[in-house]
Amino acid sequence: MAGCRSWVFLLTGEFTASFIQLPLFTYELKRETFQSEFEPLSKLYAGRLYDDPMIFKCNRQYFPDLPEWLRFTQRHPFDNGFLYGTPTSPGKSIIEIYAVNKRSYETARHILVIKVTAGRRDLNDKMLPYQAEFFLKLREIEKVLPSTVQTEIKQDLQKLWDTEALEIVNISNALDQGGRVPLPLAGHFEGVYVKVGSEQYFSDCLQRVLTPEHQRQCTAGAKVKVPGGCNFCSIPSNCITWCKTELFDLTKLEPEPPAPTMGSGILDAGIDFDPPESPPSRDYLPDYLVTVIVPLILAVILCALLAYVMFCRREGVYVSVFNEKTLYTCVMFCRIQLYHQHTIHGDTDELRNMAGNRGVPPPLSTLPMFNCRTGERASPLQSDSPSIPLIMAQQ
Ligand SMILES: *[C@@H]1O[C@H](CO)[C@@H](O)[C@H](O)[C@H]1NC(C)=O
Repeated sequence: MAGCRSWVFLLTGEFTASFIQLPLFTYELKRETFQSEFEPLSKLYAGRLYDDPMIFKCNRQYFPDLPEWLRFTQRHPFDNGFLYGTPTSPGKSIIEIYAVNKRSYETARHILVIKVTAGRRDLNDKMLPYQAEFFLKLREIEKVLPSTVQTEIKQDLQKLWDTEALEIVNISNALDQGGRVPLPLAGHFEGVYVKVGSEQYFSDCLQRVLTPEHQRQCTAGAKVKVPGGCNFCSIPSNCITWCKTELFDLTKLEPEPPAPTMGSGILDAGIDFDPPESPPSRDYLPDYLVTVIVPLILAVILCALLAYVMFCRREGVYVSVFNEKTLYTCVMFCRIQLYHQHTIHGDTDELRNMAGNRGVPPPLSTLPMFNCRTGERASPLQSDSPSIPLIMAQQ
């Protein structure tokens, strides 16, 4: 057996105890289990069966969160929840599970005890020295965690690895490893990473991942298929993305540097303690002058300047407002006035002449408008041409 750890489940009320010997721990929070707690009477007497939406809240007892290695996922209130993860150190974890019924808002509480025990070998030992991580593009984490699906995936990978002695070491959501949230369309999935380990060295198929040719093909971005003879996936959604396959040879890892040796905490006799000298004192006056006084003086000068411009130079402001543009407008206005007076002057002259001689034709300014070519008279009101006489014709 590759797994040397065991877990004990203890659910209050049911006292289910079971031992699992797998490196990856998965526990399904079934809604039906909790449903029977919410509605025991109606089921017995009225024969009514409910299928309520539920959400789960899990945490370590007396702590706000789950243990570091344990993760929880539930896609939808109508789905089951999953606790999963790979424990990293032996010990006992007491997990509190609260189920909230989203129809009646009742809650139920269960306790799950997970005991991680080190087996024959220490957990820090390289239990499975050869590990490989595969990416399943068309999967979501909740769909992979049920044990039947894990078995299916494992069977495919056993064929690829060419060994039976294979264990799933870790399963993780691609979003936790920097993946992108997929579009909310059919056929788009978050993706799942499945890590498996074995005591047997990688098969010939897997060793192709290490070849420079594989790396060149994958960096070129082309859609690289699993090489022929190595494609063992029977269910399309369990097929791996060949370019995202990674191999880990834990035997080649450098040994960790030895931990520093701890002293007794007491100085050896004979060595005098020499305290560090206090730093030399520093004069802060120049800094103060530069950062506080100089900006203050500048601010005062600017204020004085502004006050002078605002209160003592008001006239200057008027002069400067009377600029070239206003001057031009003024000149134009004077010209129009002059022209107006000039026409009035002409009309007065004409009227004077008329007063002298009554036989002359009516003055031009009293004639209605007419077309000079056709001779047709037009109503002066209909024309907006600039040549309209200032005084309207009187019939
Ligand atoms: C399992 O995968 C998750 C996500 O990548 C990671 O955080 C965790 O450390 C892994 N566990 C082990 C034991 O490798």
